[in-house]
Amino acid sequence: MQTLLIVSNLPSPNTKKLVDAVVKGAKHQDVDSINVRFLEPLEACADDVLDSQAVIIGTTENFGYMSGQIKDFFERIYYPCLEKTQGLPYALFVKGGQDGTGARNSVEKIITGLRWRQVQETLIMKGEFQQQWLNLCEEFGLYMSAGLEANIF
Ligand SMILES: Cc1cc2nc3c(=O)[nH]c(=O)nc-3n(C[C@H](O)[C@H](O)[C@H](O)COP(=O)(O)O)c2cc1C
Repeated sequence: MQTLLIVSNLPSPNTKKLVDAVVKGAKHQDVDSINVRFLEPLEACADDVLDSQAVIIGTTENFGYMSGQIKDFFERIYYPCLEKTQGLPYALFVKGGQDGTGARNSVEKIITGLRWRQVQETLIMKGEFQQQWLNLCEEFGLYMSAGLEANIF
C-alpha cells in the first residue's frame, strides 16, 4: 500500500484545526488504498520519508521563516534522503500571522535541493482565522491522497 506522509507543527488550536482538516481530507472515504500517516516534525525521521510515496509539509511562519520544528526535520532528513527521494511528490501549506511568504520560500529552497516534485500549489493562510480554510485544507489533503491513488503524480 502506498503511503502519504503528513508532517506539520501544531503550535496552536488554529493550526491543529487546519492540520486535522488536511488529514481528514487525505483520509476521505473515497480513497481507500492509501495509508495516510500524520507525524509531528520532532517524531518524523528520514525512514518515514523513505517509506512514503508522497509528502505534505505544513508549517507556521515564524520570524519570516519556516517553523523551527520543520527546519529541524529537514536538517535530519536532508542527507539521508537526498539521493533516494528525488522526484517525490510533495505539497506545502503555510499558516502565517500576517504573511507566510518567508516560510514558503524557505521550504521551497530546501525542496529545490532535495529535488522533490511540487504537485499542488502552496496553500498560504494568513490573517484572521477563516472557517473556509477548513474546506481548503480538506481539499488539499484529498487531492494528494486521491492523486496518489490515481497515479497522476
Ligand atoms: C515566535 C513567533 C514568530 C512569528 N513570526 C511570524 C512571521 O514572521 N510572519 C507571520 O506572518 N507570522 C508570524 N508569527 C505568527 C504565527 O505564524 C502564527 O502564530 C501561527 O500561524 C499560528 O496562528 P494562530 O495564532 O492563528 O493559531 C509568529 C509567531 C511566533 C510565535
